Amino acid sequence: MTIRFDNRVAIVTGAGNGLGRAHALLLASRGAKVVVNDPGGAVDGKGGNHAAADKVVDEIKAAGGQAVPNYDSVADPKSAANIVKTAVDSFGTVDIVVNNAGVLRDKTFHNMTTEDFDFVVKVHFQGTAYVTHAAWPILRAKAYGRVVVTSSNSGIYGTFGQANYGGAKLAVVGFMNALRLEGQKYNIFINALAPVAATRMTESLMTPEVLDKLRPEFVSPMVAYLCSEQCQRTGDIWSAGAGTFARIEYREAEGVRIIGRAPTLEDVADNIEKIADVSASRVFRTSGEEVAAVVGS
Ligand code: NAI
Repeated sequence: MTIRFDNRVAIVTGAGNGLGRAHALLLASRGAKVVVNDPGGAVDGKGGNHAAADKVVDEIKAAGGQAVPNYDSVADPKSAANIVKTAVDSFGTVDIVVNNAGVLRDKTFHNMTTEDFDFVVKVHFQGTAYVTHAAWPILRAKAYGRVVVTSSNSGIYGTFGQANYGGAKLAVVGFMNALRLEGQKYNIFINALAPVAATRMTESLMTPEVLDKLRPEFVSPMVAYLCSEQCQRTGDIWSAGAGTFARIEYREAEGVRIIGRAPTLEDVADNIEKIADVSASRVFRTSGEEVAAVVGS
């Protein structure tokens, strides 16, 4: 089976470099019309130039694909809406939104300014919400959509010095969990990517041998699948990197139930190992399911 995106319009944010560029190239090579969004700043989000997006558009066109550039920031509601407007003005609609744009301002929390905290949260979390919010009415009206949010093992598992980034990267998972429920009946599916790739964001952390295994284009097949009509999954987190693809899932321990009397602090202390033991665990798909299990109904 060959997966194609003919007559589909895709927005890829932050597509001027790294992973976003690879996602945009793959989608375009399979027939998607692509809005290549990128304001073209540095890794910390400072500065900007049109060359980043223009270069990727040129690459797509040179390979026979269709693409237009957009230089707006995702991190402001008006400019984010303009990214969606670019898709509509250029190609008539939008079917696919890949929220990939990202910045880093790593510092231990002790040294992190609230400005650096806010900026990173704004690009990753609010930016994802702003772009998706502008596209949502179009996807809903046409009863079709594929949305990808970009999470990270930093948010899911933790990285020293990334309180801002890690927080924002898990925030998009919470965002996805709600939109999974709201989008399903409109055939709008939303999934989260947890990539590992050698890009300008990560290259200083890795050796040349490791970097070669971690080419961004090894991640993009997962993203393109999640953007395809063939994908019927929604609301999951997918790890992808170095040719490894795997779903990530939360689980909750069976735990301990104290009933018939008010639980005490000592009940918790005496049972803490059992409360923490996930060898018998459960997976919930909605908050309601979890609450029902906790209440014991
Ligand atoms: P990158 O720095 O090569 O690409 C990020 C792109 O986002 C850049 O082209 C940048 O100009 C753009 N961007 C920054 N602020 C923007 C804004 N306000 N509006 C629109 N675009 C903006 O980095 P990379 O590695 O390709 O990152 C892509 C995504 O994957 C990011 O969300 C990142 O957090 C995430 N990620 C990457 C990992 C990796 O191993 N490379 C690991 C986990 C997550």
